[in-house]
Amino acid sequence: MMTNEDQFQLATYKKMPIAAVHGSGVWICASDGESYLDLYGGHAVAGTGHCHPHVVEAIQKQAEKLLFYSNLVYSSARARAAEKLVSIAPHPLTKTFFCNSGTEANENAMRMARMATGREQIITFSGGFHGRTADAISATFLGKYRELGKPNVPGHLEAEFGDIESVRALADNTVAAIMLEPIQSMAGVRMAGPEFYVALRKLCDERGIVLIYDEVQTGVGRTGQWFFAASDAGGGVVPDVVTLAKSLGSGVPVGACLVTDAIASHIKENDLGTTFGGGMLAMAAVTATIEAIEQDRMLENVRRVEAYLRGRLQEVKRVVAVHGLGFLLGIEFKENASIVHKAMLDRKIITGTSSNPKVLRLLPPLCLDEQEADMFVAAAKFPE
Ligand SMILES: Cc1ncc(COP(=O)(O)O)c(C=O)c1O
Repeated sequence: MMTNEDQFQLATYKKMPIAAVHGSGVWICASDGESYLDLYGGHAVAGTGHCHPHVVEAIQKQAEKLLFYSNLVYSSARARAAEKLVSIAPHPLTKTFFCNSGTEANENAMRMARMATGREQIITFSGGFHGRTADAISATFLGKYRELGKPNVPGHLEAEFGDIESVRALADNTVAAIMLEPIQSMAGVRMAGPEFYVALRKLCDERGIVLIYDEVQTGVGRTGQWFFAASDAGGGVVPDVVTLAKSLGSGVPVGACLVTDAIASHIKENDLGTTFGGGMLAMAAVTATIEAIEQDRMLENVRRVEAYLRGRLQEVKRVVAVHGLGFLLGIEFKENASIVHKAMLDRKIITGTSSNPKVLRLLPPLCLDEQEADMFVAAAKFPE
């Protein structure tokens, strides 16, 4: 299988035995002619589905006009994307900074928090994942990742997810930010009750700490609303900074920080920057991604199909619990999720595992429908 790739690429990824050739919606076609139902959404990136026609057309049109110019010039493509992104963001998130990936968005979010507060320490949580660049990996207390980033950036503190007292104990006047994945995805799709997020907001307000939501996975519609920020599940809390990437460009690499005016007021010319951030091709993809989600009413679809899938999964005896929200679901099985993952792949369904050995992760495109959800349910009934 694609031996050239194995020969010439570092062996850093455990690959499935699939060579993806083309995709449409929730489906991927492989070089052997087989079709796969992609419930992993191309690593949570294909929010609008693979090759959504509106996104493809927007990228094609932009590519013919201008592929790239940096932030040293104005661009209507960039202006449109920034305005569109702010228009779907909860108040008072009013400004964007564009970059290229999730880890970079988190690095910039932490940097802004340090600039805004004049403090250095950052509290993050056991089980959280924030990326692999130096500061982000130092903020990642999931499994072995932090070790991979040694020597770590100093000033990172670990609290227990869902345990406000553990945060309170660390949150003194040296702390610049509390950053969290509001739903911890890789840890097995762990969510806290709304009271936890409300208490975090209150603590940050009392102690002058910046609250950062890493919505690299939960953002851009995945939970059935645009963001976890301001959601009922999150007690209506809006953080000071939201970071985004993954599905923001439907597959064109792009990351972003959404920030309040209060944070923005501390950021001056040349404080942050990146060559490729805000490039025209990525900006066309961002605008078209949001438009496609709106036009196809995908948020409603996520909520409806999530409820349907949860209902149908009650028929599956080996399912112990369904964690998460919208299309970020952790299905807890009686047996090891790697067995289910393999059984699914044998039935041409792509799913994801997590660091919880019992939890299979689903991050499908937001256009997954009931019939496609039924295919997963039928496959999950494979013989003991
Ligand atoms: C919650 C979260 N934050 C940050 C990242 C890092 O994003 P990227 O791989 O684009 O750097 C990821 C990637 O999986 C993620 O899931």
